[in-house]
Amino acid sequence: MTMTREPIAVIGTGYVGLVTAAGFAQLGNEVWCVDIDAEKIGSLQRGEMPIHEPGLSECVQRHRGRLHFSTDLAPALEHARLLFVAVGTPPTYSGDADLTAVRQVVAAMPDSDRHALVMKSTVPVGAGEAIKRDFAAAGKASLAYVSCPEFLREGSALEDFLHPDRVVVGDDGDPAGDAVAALYAPLGAVLVRTNIPTAEMIKLAANAFLATKISFINEIANVCEETGADVREVARGMGLDHRIGEHFLKPGIGYGGSCFPKDVSALKQLAGNSGYHFQLLSAVIEVNELQKRRVMAKLQKHLGSLVGRRIALLGLAFKAHTDDMREASSLVLSARLLADGAQVTAYDPVAEKEARRLMVGVSFADSARDALAGADACVIVTEWPEFAELDWRGVAQLMQGKTVIDGRNLLDPDVVREAGLVYEGIGR
Ligand code: UGA
Repeated sequence: MTMTREPIAVIGTGYVGLVTAAGFAQLGNEVWCVDIDAEKIGSLQRGEMPIHEPGLSECVQRHRGRLHFSTDLAPALEHARLLFVAVGTPPTYSGDADLTAVRQVVAAMPDSDRHALVMKSTVPVGAGEAIKRDFAAAGKASLAYVSCPEFLREGSALEDFLHPDRVVVGDDGDPAGDAVAALYAPLGAVLVRTNIPTAEMIKLAANAFLATKISFINEIANVCEETGADVREVARGMGLDHRIGEHFLKPGIGYGGSCFPKDVSALKQLAGNSGYHFQLLSAVIEVNELQKRRVMAKLQKHLGSLVGRRIALLGLAFKAHTDDMREASSLVLSARLLADGAQVTAYDPVAEKEARRLMVGVSFADSARDALAGADACVIVTEWPEFAELDWRGVAQLMQGKTVIDGRNLLDPDVVREAGLVYEGIGR
Protein backbone atom coordinates (compact mmCIF):
# COMPACT_ATOMS: atom_id res chain seq x y z
CA MET A 1 0.00 0.00 0.00
CA THR A 2 1.44 3.41 -0.90
CA MET A 3 0.83 6.18 1.59
CA THR A 4 -0.18 9.57 0.21
CA ARG A 5 2.71 11.94 0.84
CA GLU A 6 2.14 15.52 1.84
CA PRO A 7 2.62 18.19 -0.85
CA ILE A 8 5.32 20.68 0.08
CA ALA A 9 6.74 23.95 -1.21
CA VAL A 10 10.39 24.87 -1.60
CA ILE A 11 11.27 28.56 -1.87
CA GLY A 12 14.64 29.14 -3.54
CA THR A 13 15.92 26.77 -6.23
CA GLY A 14 19.68 26.89 -5.61
CA TYR A 15 21.84 23.91 -4.62
CA VAL A 16 19.93 23.24 -1.40
CA GLY A 17 16.42 24.08 -2.65
CA LEU A 18 16.58 22.18 -5.90
CA VAL A 19 18.13 19.11 -4.30
CA THR A 20 15.57 19.17 -1.47
CA ALA A 21 12.77 19.46 -4.02
CA ALA A 22 14.14 16.64 -6.18
CA GLY A 23 14.78 14.47 -3.12
CA PHE A 24 11.26 14.87 -1.77
CA ALA A 25 9.84 14.30 -5.26
CA GLN A 26 11.76 11.02 -5.27
CA LEU A 27 10.18 10.15 -1.92
CA GLY A 28 6.78 10.68 -3.53
CA ASN A 29 5.92 14.23 -2.48
CA GLU A 30 4.35 16.72 -4.84
CA VAL A 31 6.72 19.72 -4.68
CA TRP A 32 5.91 23.33 -5.54
CA CYS A 33 9.15 25.20 -6.22
CA VAL A 34 9.26 28.98 -6.14
CA ASP A 35 12.07 31.33 -7.12
CA ILE A 36 12.15 35.07 -7.89
CA ASP A 37 14.63 34.40 -10.73
CA ALA A 38 12.35 34.08 -13.77
CA GLU A 39 15.20 32.91 -15.99
CA LYS A 40 16.02 30.04 -13.63
CA ILE A 41 12.37 29.04 -13.34
CA GLY A 42 12.09 29.17 -17.14
CA SER A 43 15.00 26.79 -17.62
CA LEU A 44 13.71 24.45 -14.91
CA GLN A 45 10.32 24.36 -16.63
CA ARG A 46 12.13 23.34 -19.83
CA GLY A 47 13.93 20.61 -17.87
CA GLU A 48 17.32 22.37 -17.95
CA MET A 49 19.41 22.38 -14.77
CA PRO A 50 20.85 25.74 -13.65
CA ILE A 51 23.62 23.95 -11.70
CA HIS A 52 25.89 20.93 -12.11
CA GLU A 53 25.10 18.34 -9.46
CA PRO A 54 25.58 14.60 -10.08
CA GLY A 55 22.28 12.76 -10.63
CA LEU A 56 20.13 15.87 -10.17
CA SER A 57 19.09 16.33 -13.77
CA GLU A 58 18.07 12.66 -14.05
CA CYS A 59 16.15 12.82 -10.76
CA VAL A 60 14.26 15.97 -11.78
CA GLN A 61 13.51 14.39 -15.16
CA ARG A 62 12.28 11.16 -13.56
CA HIS A 63 9.92 12.98 -11.20
CA ARG A 64 8.87 15.80 -13.50
CA GLY A 65 5.24 15.04 -12.89
CA ARG A 66 5.59 15.83 -9.20
CA LEU A 67 7.75 18.98 -9.57
CA HIS A 68 6.15 22.35 -10.29
CA PHE A 69 8.22 25.48 -10.92
CA SER A 70 6.90 29.02 -10.65
CA THR A 71 7.88 32.57 -9.73
CA ASP A 72 4.52 32.91 -8.04
CA LEU A 73 4.11 31.96 -4.38
CA ALA A 74 0.31 31.65 -4.62
CA PRO A 75 0.10 28.09 -6.04
CA ALA A 76 2.64 26.91 -3.45
CA LEU A 77 0.55 28.42 -0.65
CA GLU A 78 -2.57 26.88 -2.07
CA HIS A 79 -1.19 23.34 -2.36
CA ALA A 80 1.37 23.07 0.44
CA ARG A 81 1.25 23.59 4.15
CA LEU A 82 5.00 23.22 4.78
CA LEU A 83 7.07 25.90 3.02
CA PHE A 84 10.78 25.04 3.00
CA VAL A 85 12.96 28.15 2.74
CA ALA A 86 16.22 27.57 0.88
CA VAL A 87 17.26 31.04 -0.19
CA GLY A 88 20.83 32.33 0.00
CA THR A 89 22.29 33.89 3.16
CA PRO A 90 25.61 35.22 1.81
CA PRO A 91 28.14 36.95 4.05
CA THR A 92 28.02 40.72 4.50
CA TYR A 93 31.17 42.84 4.72
CA SER A 94 31.06 42.50 8.52
CA GLY A 95 31.04 38.69 8.28
CA ASP A 96 27.43 38.43 9.48
CA ALA A 97 24.92 36.49 7.38
CA ASP A 98 22.86 38.64 5.00
CA LEU A 99 19.23 37.77 5.73
CA THR A 100 17.66 40.01 3.06
CA ALA A 101 16.29 37.11 1.00
CA VAL A 102 15.00 35.33 4.12
CA ARG A 103 13.26 38.53 5.23
CA GLN A 104 11.59 38.87 1.82
CA VAL A 105 10.14 35.38 2.17
CA VAL A 106 9.02 36.08 5.73
CA ALA A 107 7.30 39.30 4.61
CA ALA A 108 5.48 37.47 1.81
CA MET A 109 3.87 34.96 4.19
CA PRO A 110 0.13 35.38 4.72
CA ASP A 111 -1.57 35.29 8.11
CA SER A 112 -2.43 31.62 8.21
CA ASP A 113 -2.81 28.87 10.78
CA ARG A 114 -2.43 26.27 8.02
CA HIS A 115 1.13 27.12 6.97
CA ALA A 116 4.56 26.63 8.51
CA LEU A 117 7.86 28.12 7.43
CA VAL A 118 10.57 25.46 7.51
CA MET A 119 13.99 27.13 7.51
CA LYS A 120 16.67 25.27 5.54
CA SER A 121 18.76 28.35 4.78
CA THR A 122 21.64 28.67 7.23
CA VAL A 123 20.74 31.53 9.57
CA PRO A 124 22.39 32.88 12.73
CA VAL A 125 21.33 31.47 16.09
CA GLY A 126 18.36 33.54 17.20
CA ALA A 127 17.05 34.22 13.69
CA GLY A 128 14.13 31.81 14.11
CA GLU A 129 12.99 33.43 17.36
CA ALA A 130 13.34 36.87 15.72
CA ILE A 131 11.22 35.74 12.75
CA LYS A 132 8.57 34.44 15.11
CA ARG A 133 8.53 37.82 16.87
CA ASP A 134 8.18 39.51 13.45
CA PHE A 135 5.25 37.24 12.63
CA ALA A 136 3.59 38.17 15.93
CA ALA A 137 4.21 41.90 15.37
CA ALA A 138 2.73 41.65 11.87
CA GLY A 139 -0.41 39.93 13.16
CA LYS A 140 0.67 36.56 11.75
CA ALA A 141 1.26 34.78 15.05
CA SER A 142 -0.59 31.68 13.89
CA LEU A 143 2.10 30.88 11.30
CA ALA A 144 4.31 28.05 12.57
CA TYR A 145 8.10 28.05 12.31
CA VAL A 146 10.47 25.08 12.16
CA SER A 147 14.24 25.05 11.83
CA CYS A 148 15.44 22.16 9.67
CA PRO A 149 19.09 22.73 8.77
CA GLU A 150 20.58 20.98 5.77
CA PHE A 151 23.86 19.07 5.87
CA LEU A 152 24.26 18.02 2.24
CA ARG A 153 27.53 18.54 0.38
CA GLU A 154 27.71 19.90 -3.10
CA GLY A 155 28.91 17.28 -5.54
CA SER A 156 27.08 14.51 -3.67
CA ALA A 157 24.03 16.51 -2.62
CA LEU A 158 21.29 14.17 -3.76
CA GLU A 159 23.00 11.15 -2.20
CA ASP A 160 23.43 13.12 1.03
CA PHE A 161 19.76 14.13 1.00
CA LEU A 162 18.67 10.52 0.62
CA HIS A 163 21.18 9.11 3.14
CA PRO A 164 21.57 11.71 5.89
CA ASP A 165 23.64 10.98 9.01
CA ARG A 166 20.86 12.68 10.97
CA VAL A 167 17.83 14.91 10.51
CA VAL A 168 17.62 17.94 12.78
CA VAL A 169 14.21 19.46 13.50
CA GLY A 170 14.01 22.48 15.79
CA ASP A 171 10.58 23.71 16.84
CA ASP A 172 8.35 24.47 19.78
CA GLY A 173 7.04 20.95 19.94
CA ASP A 174 4.16 21.84 17.65
CA PRO A 175 2.39 19.85 14.91
CA ALA A 176 4.48 21.52 12.18
CA GLY A 177 7.61 19.99 13.73
CA ASP A 178 5.86 16.58 13.78
CA ALA A 179 4.95 17.03 10.11
CA VAL A 180 8.54 17.85 9.11
CA ALA A 181 9.84 14.85 11.09
CA ALA A 182 7.24 12.65 9.36
CA LEU A 183 8.38 13.88 5.93
CA TYR A 184 11.90 12.63 6.60
CA ALA A 185 10.83 9.43 8.35
CA PRO A 186 11.16 7.19 5.23
CA LEU A 187 14.89 7.98 5.12
CA GLY A 188 15.31 6.10 8.41
CA ALA A 189 17.85 8.60 9.76
CA VAL A 190 18.38 9.43 13.43
CA LEU A 191 16.11 12.35 14.31
CA VAL A 192 17.41 15.13 16.55
CA ARG A 193 14.29 16.94 17.73
CA THR A 194 15.16 20.06 19.65
CA ASN A 195 14.31 23.72 20.08
CA ILE A 196 14.90 26.32 17.38
CA PRO A 197 18.12 28.01 18.62
CA THR A 198 19.71 24.62 19.29
CA ALA A 199 18.92 23.42 15.76
CA GLU A 200 20.41 26.62 14.36
CA MET A 201 23.55 26.16 16.47
CA ILE A 202 23.96 22.50 15.44
CA LYS A 203 24.28 23.61 11.82
CA LEU A 204 26.82 26.37 12.47
CA ALA A 205 28.81 24.29 14.95
CA ALA A 206 28.96 21.30 12.58
CA ASN A 207 30.35 23.40 9.72
CA ALA A 208 32.74 25.27 12.01
CA PHE A 209 34.03 21.97 13.41
CA LEU A 210 34.60 20.48 9.96
CA ALA A 211 36.43 23.65 8.89
CA THR A 212 38.51 23.41 12.08
CA LYS A 213 39.44 19.84 11.18
CA ILE A 214 40.61 21.01 7.76
CA SER A 215 42.65 23.93 9.09
CA PHE A 216 44.13 21.60 11.72
CA ILE A 217 45.29 19.03 9.18
CA ASN A 218 46.56 21.81 6.90
CA GLU A 219 48.78 23.04 9.74
CA ILE A 220 49.92 19.49 10.47
CA ALA A 221 50.76 19.20 6.73
CA ASN A 222 52.80 22.39 6.90
CA VAL A 223 54.75 21.02 9.88
CA CYS A 224 55.19 17.70 8.05
CA GLU A 225 56.86 19.59 5.21
CA GLU A 226 59.39 20.95 7.70
CA THR A 227 60.01 17.65 9.42
CA GLY A 228 59.91 14.98 6.71
CA ALA A 229 56.71 13.28 7.91
CA ASP A 230 54.00 12.29 5.41
CA VAL A 231 50.70 13.94 6.29
CA ARG A 232 48.64 11.29 4.50
CA GLU A 233 50.01 8.58 6.75
CA VAL A 234 49.63 10.89 9.74
CA ALA A 235 45.97 11.54 8.84
CA ARG A 236 45.36 7.82 8.40
CA GLY A 237 47.02 7.00 11.70
CA MET A 238 45.01 9.69 13.45
CA GLY A 239 41.72 8.93 11.71
CA LEU A 240 41.68 5.27 12.70
CA ASP A 241 41.08 6.47 16.25
CA HIS A 242 37.28 6.52 16.13
CA ARG A 243 37.21 9.51 18.45
CA ILE A 244 38.93 11.46 15.67
CA GLY A 245 37.54 9.78 12.55
CA GLU A 246 39.06 9.58 9.09
CA HIS A 247 36.96 12.24 7.35
CA PHE A 248 37.90 15.85 6.66
CA LEU A 249 41.57 15.25 7.31
CA LYS A 250 42.68 15.86 3.75
CA PRO A 251 45.13 18.73 3.55
CA GLY A 252 45.05 20.97 0.53
CA ILE A 253 44.94 24.56 -0.58
CA GLY A 254 42.29 25.62 1.90
CA TYR A 255 38.56 25.09 2.17
CA GLY A 256 36.22 27.12 -0.01
CA GLY A 257 32.63 26.98 -1.17
CA SER A 258 29.50 28.81 -0.23
CA CYS A 259 29.28 27.38 3.27
CA PHE A 260 32.44 26.93 5.33
CA PRO A 261 33.95 30.40 4.83
CA LYS A 262 30.56 32.02 5.37
CA ASP A 263 29.42 29.91 8.32
CA VAL A 264 32.71 29.98 10.21
CA SER A 265 32.79 33.74 9.91
CA ALA A 266 29.07 34.00 10.80
CA LEU A 267 29.59 31.95 13.98
CA LYS A 268 32.65 33.98 14.94
CA GLN A 269 30.69 37.17 14.32
CA LEU A 270 27.64 35.88 16.17
CA ALA A 271 29.83 35.07 19.18
CA GLY A 272 31.45 38.50 18.97
CA ASN A 273 28.09 40.25 18.76
CA SER A 274 27.08 38.39 21.93
CA GLY A 275 30.26 39.54 23.69
CA TYR A 276 32.30 36.35 23.32
CA HIS A 277 35.60 36.21 21.46
CA PHE A 278 35.74 32.85 19.64
CA GLN A 279 39.53 32.66 19.40
CA LEU A 280 39.73 29.22 17.83
CA LEU A 281 37.67 30.27 14.81
CA SER A 282 39.87 33.32 14.22
CA ALA A 283 42.80 30.93 13.83
CA VAL A 284 40.81 28.54 11.61
CA ILE A 285 40.05 31.42 9.23
CA GLU A 286 43.59 32.77 9.24
CA VAL A 287 45.15 29.36 8.61
CA ASN A 288 42.79 28.89 5.67
CA GLU A 289 43.73 32.22 4.11
CA LEU A 290 47.44 31.47 4.47
CA GLN A 291 46.98 27.98 3.06
CA LYS A 292 45.56 29.38 -0.19
CA ARG A 293 48.75 31.39 -0.63
CA ARG A 294 51.27 28.64 0.14
CA VAL A 295 51.16 27.44 -3.47
CA MET A 296 52.79 30.75 -4.45
CA ALA A 297 55.80 30.03 -2.26
CA LYS A 298 56.06 26.51 -3.68
CA LEU A 299 56.04 27.86 -7.24
CA GLN A 300 58.63 30.50 -6.40
CA LYS A 301 60.84 27.87 -4.78
CA HIS A 302 60.99 26.00 -8.10
CA LEU A 303 60.75 28.81 -10.64
CA GLY A 304 62.21 31.85 -8.87
CA SER A 305 60.50 34.96 -10.21
CA LEU A 306 57.08 34.27 -11.73
CA VAL A 307 57.24 37.19 -14.16
CA GLY A 308 56.31 35.94 -17.63
CA ARG A 309 56.06 32.33 -16.43
CA ARG A 310 53.17 30.25 -17.77
CA ILE A 311 51.26 28.51 -15.02
CA ALA A 312 48.58 25.93 -15.82
CA LEU A 313 45.79 25.64 -13.24
CA LEU A 314 43.97 22.32 -13.39
CA GLY A 315 40.54 22.60 -11.80
CA LEU A 316 38.95 25.83 -10.63
CA ALA A 317 35.80 25.05 -8.63
CA PHE A 318 36.07 24.89 -4.83
CA LYS A 319 36.04 21.10 -5.03
CA ALA A 320 35.49 18.36 -7.60
CA HIS A 321 32.10 17.37 -9.06
CA THR A 322 30.65 20.86 -8.85
CA ASP A 323 30.70 24.01 -10.97
CA ASP A 324 30.46 26.21 -7.88
CA MET A 325 33.16 28.87 -7.85
CA ARG A 326 32.10 30.58 -4.63
CA GLU A 327 35.13 31.20 -2.39
CA ALA A 328 37.21 28.85 -4.56
CA SER A 329 40.92 28.91 -3.70
CA SER A 330 41.60 29.26 -7.44
CA LEU A 331 40.29 32.84 -7.28
CA VAL A 332 42.94 33.90 -4.76
CA LEU A 333 45.65 31.86 -6.45
CA SER A 334 45.02 33.20 -9.97
CA ALA A 335 44.81 36.78 -8.70
CA ARG A 336 48.13 36.38 -6.85
CA LEU A 337 49.78 34.80 -9.91
CA LEU A 338 48.61 37.56 -12.24
CA ALA A 339 49.72 40.20 -9.74
CA ASP A 340 53.19 38.62 -9.73
CA GLY A 341 53.38 38.84 -13.53
CA ALA A 342 52.65 35.21 -14.40
CA GLN A 343 50.50 34.11 -17.35
CA VAL A 344 47.71 31.85 -16.19
CA THR A 345 45.98 29.22 -18.32
CA ALA A 346 43.19 27.33 -16.63
CA TYR A 347 40.97 24.34 -17.27
CA ASP A 348 37.98 23.01 -15.37
CA PRO A 349 35.65 20.29 -16.72
CA VAL A 350 32.45 22.08 -15.60
CA ALA A 351 33.17 25.46 -13.97
CA GLU A 352 34.53 27.40 -16.94
CA LYS A 353 31.47 29.55 -17.55
CA GLU A 354 31.40 31.03 -14.05
CA ALA A 355 35.21 31.11 -13.87
CA ARG A 356 35.39 33.24 -17.02
CA ARG A 357 33.17 35.81 -15.34
CA LEU A 358 35.26 35.90 -12.16
CA MET A 359 38.83 35.44 -13.38
CA VAL A 360 39.66 38.38 -15.59
CA GLY A 361 43.07 38.08 -17.24
CA VAL A 362 43.16 34.28 -17.16
CA SER A 363 43.19 32.26 -20.43
CA PHE A 364 40.93 29.24 -20.60
CA ALA A 365 41.79 25.93 -22.26
CA ASP A 366 39.40 23.28 -23.57
CA SER A 367 41.24 20.41 -21.93
CA ALA A 368 43.88 19.69 -19.31
CA ARG A 369 46.38 18.89 -22.05
CA ASP A 370 45.72 22.18 -23.82
CA ALA A 371 46.25 24.06 -20.56
CA LEU A 372 49.52 22.19 -19.96
CA ALA A 373 51.00 22.79 -23.42
CA GLY A 374 54.00 25.08 -23.03
CA ALA A 375 53.46 25.58 -19.26
CA ASP A 376 56.40 26.23 -16.93
CA ALA A 377 54.49 24.73 -14.04
CA CYS A 378 51.21 23.00 -13.33
CA VAL A 379 49.06 23.31 -10.21
CA ILE A 380 46.34 20.80 -9.34
CA VAL A 381 43.74 23.07 -7.78
CA THR A 382 40.64 20.85 -7.81
CA GLU A 383 40.76 17.09 -7.31
CA TRP A 384 38.97 16.01 -10.50
CA PRO A 385 39.75 12.29 -11.05
CA GLU A 386 40.55 12.98 -14.73
CA PHE A 387 43.74 14.79 -13.70
CA ALA A 388 45.00 11.68 -11.88
CA GLU A 389 44.39 9.70 -15.06
CA LEU A 390 46.47 11.97 -17.30
CA ASP A 391 49.34 10.37 -19.18
CA TRP A 392 52.10 12.19 -17.27
CA ARG A 393 54.83 11.05 -19.68
CA GLY A 394 52.85 12.73 -22.44
CA VAL A 395 52.36 15.78 -20.22
CA ALA A 396 56.14 16.03 -19.68
CA GLN A 397 56.53 16.31 -23.46
CA LEU A 398 53.89 19.01 -23.64
CA MET A 399 55.15 21.19 -20.81
CA GLN A 400 58.01 23.62 -21.17
CA GLY A 401 59.03 23.34 -17.51
CA LYS A 402 58.94 20.44 -15.07
CA THR A 403 57.17 21.64 -11.94
CA VAL A 404 53.96 19.97 -10.78
CA ILE A 405 52.39 21.33 -7.58
CA ASP A 406 49.68 18.98 -6.41
CA GLY A 407 47.48 21.17 -4.23
CA ARG A 408 45.18 18.23 -3.41
CA ASN A 409 47.60 15.31 -3.07
CA LEU A 410 45.67 13.76 -5.94
CA LEU A 411 48.52 12.34 -8.02
CA ASP A 412 50.85 9.42 -7.48
CA PRO A 413 54.21 11.17 -6.97
CA ASP A 414 56.12 8.17 -8.37
CA VAL A 415 54.19 8.29 -11.66
CA VAL A 416 54.84 12.03 -12.02
CA ARG A 417 58.54 11.70 -11.11
CA GLU A 418 59.02 8.71 -13.43
CA ALA A 419 57.70 10.93 -16.23
CA GLY A 420 60.68 13.20 -15.59
CA LEU A 421 58.73 15.91 -13.78
CA VAL A 422 59.36 17.51 -10.38
CA TYR A 423 56.52 16.69 -7.97
CA GLU A 424 55.54 18.64 -4.88
CA GLY A 425 52.37 17.89 -2.89
CA ILE A 426 51.05 19.20 0.40
CA GLY A 427 52.68 17.88 3.56
CA ARG A 428 54.35 14.87 1.97
C1 UGA B 1 29.71 21.69 3.51
C2 UGA B 1 29.41 20.59 4.56
O1 UGA B 1 30.27 19.47 4.35
C3 UGA B 1 27.96 20.14 4.46
O2 UGA B 1 27.68 19.22 5.49
C4 UGA B 1 27.05 21.36 4.60
O3 UGA B 1 25.69 21.02 4.43
C5 UGA B 1 27.39 22.39 3.56
O4 UGA B 1 28.79 22.77 3.70
C6 UGA B 1 26.51 23.58 3.79
O5 UGA B 1 26.60 24.21 4.85
O6 UGA B 1 25.58 23.80 2.98
P1 UGA B 1 30.23 21.73 0.88
O7 UGA B 1 30.55 23.17 1.08
O8 UGA B 1 29.36 21.33 -0.24
O9 UGA B 1 29.54 21.13 2.22
O10 UGA B 1 31.61 20.97 0.67
P2 UGA B 1 32.61 20.07 1.53
O11 UGA B 1 32.71 18.74 0.89
O12 UGA B 1 32.32 20.10 2.96
O13 UGA B 1 33.99 20.81 1.24
C7 UGA B 1 34.21 22.15 1.67
C8 UGA B 1 35.62 22.57 1.37
O14 UGA B 1 36.53 21.89 2.22
C9 UGA B 1 36.08 22.26 -0.04
O15 UGA B 1 36.84 23.35 -0.53
C10 UGA B 1 36.94 21.03 0.12
O16 UGA B 1 37.91 20.91 -0.89
C11 UGA B 1 37.57 21.29 1.47
N1 UGA B 1 38.02 20.07 2.17
C12 UGA B 1 37.12 19.14 2.56
C13 UGA B 1 39.36 19.90 2.44
O17 UGA B 1 40.22 20.75 2.10
N2 UGA B 1 39.76 18.78 3.11
C14 UGA B 1 38.89 17.83 3.52
O18 UGA B 1 39.33 16.84 4.13
C15 UGA B 1 37.53 18.01 3.23
